[in-house]
Amino acid sequence: MEINQSDNRGNWSSKVGFILAAAGSAIGLGNIWAYPSKVADNGGAAFILIYILCVFLVGFPIMVSELTIGRKTGKNPVGAFKAFKFSPHFKWIGFWGIVCGFMILAFYNVVAGWTFSYVFEEIFHYFGNEPLKNWFADLGNGHKNAIFSAFFMLLTIAIITGGVAEGIEKATKIMMPMLFAILIIMIGFVFTREGAVEGLVYYLKPDFSKITFDLFFKAMGQAFFSLSLGMGALITYGSYLNKKSNIPEAAFYVTMSDLAIAFLAGLLIIPAMFVAHHNGVNIFDQHGNLLSSTSLVFTALPDLFHSMQPFIGLVSGVMFFLLLSMAALTSTISLLEVPVSYVIDEFKWKRKRAAIGIGLAVLSLSLVISYDLSLIDLFALLFNDIGLPLGGLLISIFLAYVWKTNNAMAEIRSGYSEVDNSFFGKLWPFMVKYVSPLLIGIVFFQTIYSLFS
Ligand code: PHE
Repeated sequence: MEINQSDNRGNWSSKVGFILAAAGSAIGLGNIWAYPSKVADNGGAAFILIYILCVFLVGFPIMVSELTIGRKTGKNPVGAFKAFKFSPHFKWIGFWGIVCGFMILAFYNVVAGWTFSYVFEEIFHYFGNEPLKNWFADLGNGHKNAIFSAFFMLLTIAIITGGVAEGIEKATKIMMPMLFAILIIMIGFVFTREGAVEGLVYYLKPDFSKITFDLFFKAMGQAFFSLSLGMGALITYGSYLNKKSNIPEAAFYVTMSDLAIAFLAGLLIIPAMFVAHHNGVNIFDQHGNLLSSTSLVFTALPDLFHSMQPFIGLVSGVMFFLLLSMAALTSTISLLEVPVSYVIDEFKWKRKRAAIGIGLAVLSLSLVISYDLSLIDLFALLFNDIGLPLGGLLISIFLAYVWKTNNAMAEIRSGYSEVDNSFFGKLWPFMVKYVSPLLIGIVFFQTIYSLFS
């Protein structure tokens, strides 16, 4: 089947540029806000173990699937499933992805706003201005959340309007290595503090009794979220790839860097919690379980920065929250790019009109969430934990049983001629046909079953 990529949709300017942009999409709040909280909530290393399984058995194969579908068709997620011309109904897979992306972006924006407001929290802490410091630190302040999420959305719209190569690539190139560096430096610092080693043990010592279906469900949702899978973000990014690029290699780099940043974030934040505990901050509930979730990053880390020599603490704190905001920005860009590319391709909207129109629609939802934070958990459950694995399941079934893995392999071969003899080439078809869909299916239906029984 011949599918021609449509012209003037833009392309990545280089291989490194693409990998950085895709890694920029993957690396974000998922790694630094969501992952450590989930580890803390779910028994430490037991979660890490299952998470790594999900990343390699499900995440990586589906990442390759999405990129391959994207490059084959050169289209947005809806257009891509239509372009195969098997049945018009397959477009609903892409459509579901767009819905999930839209809803995820709505709450992601609010959390991204928190990270940016903590830049100011650090500054006013340094200058000893308690009232202002507390204002910026207050996660429950609706007006403040609304202002910051609006700011974040406008920034995202501005970059998306700039187009593919200029906007997305440039933004990512500098920020990823810096984020990596600051994590390493902070880890070095946290281990000079009393209590950190206790945190390390909690992080790395698995308690196998914690491994349940529910843990699998959470780890699976987290893997999809963190790798930007299941909603067509990587179909869209793959559509800007040229035929010579090596998809498995790119996917491997993206997966490994995402995993590395998450692992490092855990290595910083869990010990930082125990250091805070050592300094008298309460981190356990009345049952002796770790308190955590939403506020974890925003309690443990400022506490750590404030315990440093004041000026060094200021510089580290500002740098950290600034970089985290930027990491979030490269993810919001990819979330908004999905519906934007959809209306550009399918309805012939201009990029600017698409970015502004959809961006403002998402923002209106973010404003509602700003005042009712309980919606974050609800949206995360529906569109992330359930929505993304469901999307991934449909994508892998489509690729394996409708398009067929040997056709997908032919597409991969155009940028990786030795694929048939590689370890990847032998394993991947088996993974997308059986392992990934089966694993998602079991976890998924078991969870739905237990929700309703
Ligand atoms: N992967 C991003 C993060 O970890 C979030 C994201 C999800 C981005 C889905 C795009 C698509 O922060």
